[in-house]
Amino acid sequence: MAVAARTPLIAGNWKMNLDHLQAVAFVQKLHWTLKDAKHESESVETAVFPPFTDIRSVQTLIDADKIPFALGAQDLSVHDSGAYTGEVSGAFLAKLDATYVIIGHSERREYHAESDAVVAAKVKAALKHGLVPVICVGETAADLEEHGASAVPVSQLEAALEGVPASADIVVAYEPVWAIGSGQAATPQQAQDVCAALRGVIAKVLGDEAAARTRILYGGSVKSANIASFMREPDVDGALVGGASLDANEFAAIIRFEKHVGV
Ligand code: PGA
Repeated sequence: MAVAARTPLIAGNWKMNLDHLQAVAFVQKLHWTLKDAKHESESVETAVFPPFTDIRSVQTLIDADKIPFALGAQDLSVHDSGAYTGEVSGAFLAKLDATYVIIGHSERREYHAESDAVVAAKVKAALKHGLVPVICVGETAADLEEHGASAVPVSQLEAALEGVPASADIVVAYEPVWAIGSGQAATPQQAQDVCAALRGVIAKVLGDEAAARTRILYGGSVKSANIASFMREPDVDGALVGGASLDANEFAAIIRFEKHVGV
């Protein structure tokens, strides 16, 4: 497959952590830490995914201080508006300058019974409102034992991409469920094998051009000590980081993986 220049994406999924005041303090600290380290923001894209209640405050800060971070949400409604108590429309997120939205995280699949059909509908809702879906796929420990590593993520991605146009701007995140929050990351080779299989799905469904330009992230117990080993793999274009994205120094060190990728 043709090698395309894909800008690495390091994405911080805060989950249900940090209120809006803590969020502002955190984003300022992360920005200063990267500035102090003379990090070149063009070489690696940084994105933060705060809870809904923080997004307006973080947007205002990023805008006022010209902080080079992209903003994303952790979920969205399949609907545009209407009688859907508690739901948040992609239209509202777009108005807040959100670039990305995480869809189909394993915690939503598990605790909110999000099926492949719901995930596919959310991908369409995101694209409709000009948001880039970060489509999460990954196998459980039982799936791994029963079907191997790739089968479940591949079928989840095939379902999520149904009806998506070839020109769509998407991000895919491979997150083995057994690696999330466990301290037990996949090996770089495991991540590479599944990410390569996922790129094959994109090629089959959306075409070679889409496969060459689409970023595929690895997620699951990523930290500063292991990020470089993942980023050395040809089909891993970044990371979706949970726990380690809540510590500004640690997350800055992950964003600066280029400094230790050769080590
Ligand atoms: P973790 O979470 O980095 O804490 O393992 C990753 C995720 O759930 O996106």
